Amino acid sequence: MRFTAVTLFPELVQAACGFGIMGRALARGLWALDVVNPRDFAHDAHRTVDDRPYGGGPGMVMMAPPLAAAIAAAREGQRRAGCASVRVVHLTPAGVPLTHVRVAAMAAGLDAGYVLLAGRYEGVDERLVAREIDEEIAIGDFVVSGGELPALMLMDAVVRLLPGATNEPASVEQESFADGLLDTPHFTRPEVWQGEAVPEVLLSGNHAAIARWRRMQALGRTKARRPDLFAAVELSAEDRRLLAEYGQCETAQAPRGARDGGDAQRRGDADDKAGTTSATPTSLPRTSERKEQA
Ligand SMILES: C[S@@+](CC[C@H](N)C(=O)[O-])C[C@H]1O[C@@H](n2cnc3c(N)ncnc32)[C@H](O)[C@@H]1O
Repeated sequence: MRFTAVTLFPELVQAACGFGIMGRALARGLWALDVVNPRDFAHDAHRTVDDRPYGGGPGMVMMAPPLAAAIAAAREGQRRAGCASVRVVHLTPAGVPLTHVRVAAMAAGLDAGYVLLAGRYEGVDERLVAREIDEEIAIGDFVVSGGELPALMLMDAVVRLLPGATNEPASVEQESFADGLLDTPHFTRPEVWQGEAVPEVLLSGNHAAIARWRRMQALGRTKARRPDLFAAVELSAEDRRLLAEYGQCETAQAPRGARDGGDAQRRGDADDKAGTTSATPTSLPRTSERKEQA
């Protein structure tokens, strides 16, 4: 797996790739990173890569000629490095939202190469997109200042799925989205914190019961928080039983922050109108409620 970032800030990308799982996987040779700066392909003394937009309006637009030359150099570098395929990806808010499915497909092509074009300013000349770009990806319905962080997020998401990148492969298989569901809640020591105890089942040592509880939590949370994901889940008879059980003992419907703003706020409001939500942020009943249940 080889990524080449085409960016005006190569040091930013290189620096961020040196940490944690990404950094270790890079050191072990599980993936490779190259950077190409479009300024190296500008033709004037100021190394200009942007100009004012035709038609007027605010901001600047990245010019096609230096970007095309930078992408050509990136492609050539990937070919020379032996990549079986080279795909040019433009990070842009106008792209297809990035999902686990796309990330996993990218991670499956171990000898593939990706050139990641990180825009700046108002974006890049659309003619460059039409000629050079194979795929456009967005990392969310919001705008950041440049494509470097989106490119890093894409690389991080792919690299952590590469064989050998994580010490415990099972951990990535059990994470949110891997099986179409959100992750289960996690707990660690201390066993009781601020009067709140860890769910008893997690202390039971009964692996089947723990697995069942975790599946119930993942199903219940996904249904409550991400109905869009939940709609695509094929439920078994046991899943339906778990959901019914979750509905009986759970009070939490919305993620933490639902009271503060954002999409979760809107979901929370909708739930309020339906009379189904609670302000309880955790997926566990409060200690007092658990005592009452006991
Ligand atoms: C300030 S943004 C340009 C935003 C653009 N004028 C728009 O309204 O869609 C500069 C660059 O950041 C990157 N970028 C910003 N938000 C992004 C997102 N949600 N997903 C992927 N890339 C993004 C793109 O590379 C973009 O060219």
